[in-house]
Amino acid sequence: MTYSFNFCSKSAISLATFVERIKSHYTGPDCLDRKHVNFFALQLQLLANNKYFLTDLVCDNVLKETLKIESGNTYANDSWVIYINKSPFFQVRVCFWHSDGEKQCQNDKLNVYRCLHDHNFAFLTTNYFGPGYISRLFQYDYSDELEEGCDSCLQSLGSHQLSSGEVIYYEPSKDAHLQVPPKAFSISLNLMFETNGNKQFVFDIETGRIVHTVISSDAIAKQFIKELVDDAV
Ligand SMILES: [Fe+2]
Repeated sequence: MTYSFNFCSKSAISLATFVERIKSHYTGPDCLDRKHVNFFALQLQLLANNKYFLTDLVCDNVLKETLKIESGNTYANDSWVIYINKSPFFQVRVCFWHSDGEKQCQNDKLNVYRCLHDHNFAFLTTNYFGPGYISRLFQYDYSDELEEGCDSCLQSLGSHQLSSGEVIYYEPSKDAHLQVPPKAFSISLNLMFETNGNKQFVFDIETGRIVHTVISSDAIAKQFIKELVDDAV
């Protein structure tokens, strides 16, 4: 289930210090016990207390883009991966939430404001700017047998607003969520850990049935390689 942490500290750390502290304590998904998750959550909050690092990073990145220097960062729709650690894998991501986000994304197949979904990786999230988005939270029991049309026995856990000073932990293949656009533009920070290889699902919010299995780019690549090997045999 999701865990919520509230920290009083107003201290702030840099992105470099944040990454160093995560690297020195994170050894892989098996270390995500309560004590470690609490430590990682506190570090994410300390980074979120730093109200200058993101603008510095944006300015720095824009400058590098202008000078055509490889930055190593990747952009995606309304999110920006600002750091990737390859081994053990974790990444730091910034997400941008628009108050009219639902309208903007209405043609997207996996619209986060319309698709109740889970993730196959653990992650921590905290609000960085603005009032914060609202999540409708659910929980289910993962099984490899689950596929499209199956009843996931989804349980509703209510709604929650990601407010300032709070860090939320989402368990992989357990917690599901549907985002509700914030009242005003908001930014969140995520610390995301590696995938567990399970399927990810999109659920019907009314019936709890699985309406779609999400195939990650990693899974698509593996499937492609398997088809190549099968064709060669
Ligand atoms: Fe999500």
